[in-house]
Amino acid sequence: MTETVPQIRGLGHSVKRKEDPRFLRGKGNYIDDLKLPGMLYMDIVRSPYPHARIVGIDASEALKVPGVAAVVTGKDLEAAGLAWMPTLMSDTQMVLPTDHVVYQSQEVAVVVATSRYAAADGVTAVNVEYEPLPPVIDPIKALEPDAPLVRPDKEKQSNHIWHWEVGDRAATEEALNSADVVVEQDIYIPRIHVASIETCGCVASFDRISGKLTIWMTTQAPHAIRTVFSLVSKIPEHKIRVISPDIGGGFGGKVPVYPGYVCAVVAALTTGKPVKWIEDRSENLQADSFARDYHIHAELGADRSGKMRGLRIKTIADHGAADAAANPSKFPAGLFSIVTGSYDMPQAYVEVDGVYTNKPPGGVAYRCSFRVTEAVHTIERMVDTLALKLDMDPADLRMKNFIQPEQFPYKSVLGWEYDSGNYPAALQKALDRIGYQELRREQSEKRARGELMGIGISTFTEIVGAGPSHTFDILGIKMFDSAEIRVHPTGSAIVRIGVQTQGQGHETTFAQIVAEELGLPVENIEVEHGDTDTAPYGLGTYASRSTPTAGAATAIAARKIRDKAAHLAAHLLECSVDDLEWKDYRFQVKGAPERSKSMPELAFAAYTNHPLGMEAGLEAVTYYDPPNLTFPFGAYICVVDIDRGTGEVHVRRFVAIDDCGTVINPMIVEGQVHGGLTMGLAPALYEQIWYDDDGNMHGGTLMDYLVPTAVETPNWETDRTVTPSPHHPIGAKGVGESATVGAPPAIVNAVVDALSHLGVTHVDIPMTPPRIWRILQEKGVALASS
Ligand code: CDP
Repeated sequence: MTETVPQIRGLGHSVKRKEDPRFLRGKGNYIDDLKLPGMLYMDIVRSPYPHARIVGIDASEALKVPGVAAVVTGKDLEAAGLAWMPTLMSDTQMVLPTDHVVYQSQEVAVVVATSRYAAADGVTAVNVEYEPLPPVIDPIKALEPDAPLVRPDKEKQSNHIWHWEVGDRAATEEALNSADVVVEQDIYIPRIHVASIETCGCVASFDRISGKLTIWMTTQAPHAIRTVFSLVSKIPEHKIRVISPDIGGGFGGKVPVYPGYVCAVVAALTTGKPVKWIEDRSENLQADSFARDYHIHAELGADRSGKMRGLRIKTIADHGAADAAANPSKFPAGLFSIVTGSYDMPQAYVEVDGVYTNKPPGGVAYRCSFRVTEAVHTIERMVDTLALKLDMDPADLRMKNFIQPEQFPYKSVLGWEYDSGNYPAALQKALDRIGYQELRREQSEKRARGELMGIGISTFTEIVGAGPSHTFDILGIKMFDSAEIRVHPTGSAIVRIGVQTQGQGHETTFAQIVAEELGLPVENIEVEHGDTDTAPYGLGTYASRSTPTAGAATAIAARKIRDKAAHLAAHLLECSVDDLEWKDYRFQVKGAPERSKSMPELAFAAYTNHPLGMEAGLEAVTYYDPPNLTFPFGAYICVVDIDRGTGEVHVRRFVAIDDCGTVINPMIVEGQVHGGLTMGLAPALYEQIWYDDDGNMHGGTLMDYLVPTAVETPNWETDRTVTPSPHHPIGAKGVGESATVGAPPAIVNAVVDALSHLGVTHVDIPMTPPRIWRILQEKGVALASS
């Protein structure tokens, strides 16, 4: 990786984050910091039942509570045609119910009042009479003919939502039939929840004079949200302004529109006052979109030497009461078809069925490029299962099956064209760094002493940068992204981007891209985002798409500016453009480097001394449609020790080698990987939301939903290889999600490796102490506590 000059601090510099001084000093500007004159506060009445008929809602006592201004129910919304809203997956979802509820904690009515406390008192005074109905919680049972119907509003009259398949069924069957060995495994990837520090919320304000609706909201995709709001409400789009200020973590959970947002807008329109809604922590965990919840059956076939022959996968996707995922439209199961992973797989066939159950809606891509976490978990588990069956070292089996560097661009059997990669180099680096052979020796010694130590590998390939507009759209809006750059006369610049940072440091890294391309010092470049009135249209930030899409747009917009600056330089240096070269961040006359002009000089000329016939100014805008996605990858190795007395899994070491192509800011990339690894540790060992048969949620508070803290987090050992993307203007691939995607299977593989000599071939996540302890007991190796 080339590191550019210190004065500019473009690519490859660990520039400290421009956004941090305001965050560290408590000067961030989050939704809840916003206070408008006369503002009302909204709170939500929620259902205690997972499935019930609403007999009646009596708001009369609530309206008597001092400060309560209004109570809005589904019937009120129905009158305005707003009781239902579209999800981003072209499904429909209740904003507020008119006659029945379909999940526990569902929004039933809202109360607006002069203070948050009065609104909360109003909520407890709303009397809702329910007639409980039998719920269906298990998606497999939901497909049985006599299962309770979750969505009677649907024409299909079934809990089955959609079927999706990819690959050659017959050829895969043939490959598995003729394989020497076939391993089979059921894998459940449980429901988890984004637990970002900031919960969701908004302030909606309608100006009756200008007719303009302004919504400050915690959204990862302000432009798309504005378009959808306009289409649904029929308010012209130029009369809606969505502002996404500082966001305290998004991770995919702030892509969908939740009923609370719509109700706050309705309340603002009807009361004529600004209305603020901020979820509390339990509401956030209990009712916002969940992630994962995939029930997978996988089969992997190989010949006796370990060469993979075919992969077949059948999956049930539990979407709760509505398919409220946020995948690109043509991908109901997201990019799950990256499931052949880093391996040269000759045949594969994947089918997924989406199912309704009486649980909160969703299926969001929690720090994951649309079901890539599920895909990577599946293939990385299956590779280890195969290694066990063949009695092969899992590192050797991977090396044998990797797509080789010379095979790129590589067309996978399920249709993706991987842009670049060098998987053996990444794995070798991880093996060397952790001292793999030595660890294997230690493991066998410990095993002989009855100690449980395991080593787990995950060599994952991601697919990020949604997406090329020919295949990718959200609700019909094609996917691309944008940047607009304006260089001021004195050589500083403002960059406006169509993506929206939620902590990733875009204000720094996007400035570095411009610094690199234009030769302006990074501190003289300001990056703005998140305001639909000023930022160019973009599809938002999720799925590690910002750098592959808007990052590319930024580089190209800067190059447009540089092209114009070349003409200014030719004018000032009295030569032809062809006589100039861009070198050392200046235009120089070829062969006479002392005759040169810097970008600040050219910027000044653009406003003061541009040639006749040339437009004044120095600015450019680019809407970038990527030719392909980018395919970051990594090799992770985890070492665990299992406590035979408690079943506790201790991650002793974890080496993560990542490759995200050209690195813009090494410090930020490392931070992204550290955070991602911790978010991978979380579902592997701790986090899960589950429901009992009556539909009661478990894990709905942070007492039960165990988000790891610094105490549980091991010392991550990170490093990288650099394999640039051939189609990205600066060779960068996304990185934000790699670690969340790659870490869980490394940890599971380590745990299974620690227990494999006892006959254990698979453990589902989260691998909590009770779950592991039960296995130890079954296998007769648990230490008695007496
Ligand atoms: O879309 P999102 O910002 O979540 O993900 P990303 O594009 O992977 O970027 C996360 C952060 O890492 C951003 O600040 C990027 O600019 C930075 N990054 C980098 O410095 N070098 C890369 N090759 C990729 C990302």
